[in-house]
Amino acid sequence: MAAKMEPVPGTDDIWEPEVLEWQRLENVARQVFRRYGYGELRTPVFERTDVFVRGIGDETEVVQKEMYTFEDRGGRSLTLRPEGTAGTMRAIANQGIAQGEEKRVFCIGPMFRGERPAAGRKRQFHQISVEAVGKCTPVLDAECITMLVDYLGNIGLTDINIQLNSRGTLEDRQRIAPQLQEFFQKHKKSLCDDCRRRIDTNVWRILDCKNAECQALIEQSPPIPELLSEASKEYFDRVCGLLNALGISYNLNPRLVRGLDYYEHTVFEITSEAEGLGAQNALAGGGRYLINLPGSKKPVQGVGFGIGMERLLLALHPEKREPRGMGKVEVFVAGRGEKSQAERMHLAQELREAGVAVVAEHEDRSLKAQFRTANRLEAALVLIQAEEEISKQSVSCKDMRNSEQDECPRDQVLGWVKKRLQK
Ligand code: HAM
Repeated sequence: MAAKMEPVPGTDDIWEPEVLEWQRLENVARQVFRRYGYGELRTPVFERTDVFVRGIGDETEVVQKEMYTFEDRGGRSLTLRPEGTAGTMRAIANQGIAQGEEKRVFCIGPMFRGERPAAGRKRQFHQISVEAVGKCTPVLDAECITMLVDYLGNIGLTDINIQLNSRGTLEDRQRIAPQLQEFFQKHKKSLCDDCRRRIDTNVWRILDCKNAECQALIEQSPPIPELLSEASKEYFDRVCGLLNALGISYNLNPRLVRGLDYYEHTVFEITSEAEGLGAQNALAGGGRYLINLPGSKKPVQGVGFGIGMERLLLALHPEKREPRGMGKVEVFVAGRGEKSQAERMHLAQELREAGVAVVAEHEDRSLKAQFRTANRLEAALVLIQAEEEISKQSVSCKDMRNSEQDECPRDQVLGWVKKRLQK
């Protein structure tokens, strides 16, 4: 046998019936987000590298270590999108957004990061990425979190934990940076090599380091909300107050900063204790942001989140998944003889037009072999149109689930099938 061609580590082939669950998660997202006024956007999976470097921040882990960047034949530097926000902002800036206008969009599709593969950590993973662009108000931040919780509830995930914090504005962060530098400088020895360097280059990034020793120290670092300006504190209090009023419970995490540099004010992460997730327990993350884009002088502001679809699937208990079976073949049309070929195709088309999933025999094999195929496809019904039935203008019908057999006049077959399938 030829050697197996495995997909590249960190990437997967996704087959039915698993694909049906993906479709459900995507379709519920479309339904729920539409109720909040969001429309679907599809951006390219690769962009000019600059879109991500300027958008996400060149000191971030994603930009420094994880991007799939390549030169095309024209010598342009391109990158496979590692997340959805920067490309969405590029698309919106390209279309133009008037002062005071608001755009609400979501984007579903693959993202690429060169991370070490593990359960729930892929190199090609899939995000549902949602953005409300153009306005800055605590009401939108609270609504955005509410919509995310609404979506998760709709797909059957209610046992979740919301972590919430504020990173304030750029001025806040510039003012707070020396206080963080002073703290981490004092404990430099307990930091990893990357974080030691970050003390000078971007001290805020230390707060997002996943290294266990760094984490222990981060726990003791000054809590961010206490250091914010009065205006930023007020903004954050409004977000918390609105969530309280909506009955959405959350945990304040005063050191949550998130891994991307564009965030301003509110940041949040949804985690789950579901067994399947293990260490990769962040189902979704997001916040308010301000992004600089190539070619535009003014930064674009917005609020949004990204949901990791692989992680949703790991977190969803099998019982919470929708019953399988949709998309399966319902009817197999069997038959023998050259004359029956066109009849079989005709019958299959008639059933498909009525919404039935049909596979028709397209060779001229023995009926035994055709029944084997029907069994493999798990078809509920088999319709037989051999020469004998054709001459009698009838169809032999078999319900494979209980082996009941009927002979139906040809013009009543659709009714028989619908009744059996309860359509
Ligand atoms: P992020 O936290 O980098 O945020 O990613 C969002 C979610 O994508 C994570 O919570 C996780 O579920 C999933 N994810 C990230 N990396 C991987 C991976 N290697 N394998 C599997 N799943 C992964 C963003 O991407 C921001 N753009 C979210 C956002 C939108 N913020 C504002 N608007």
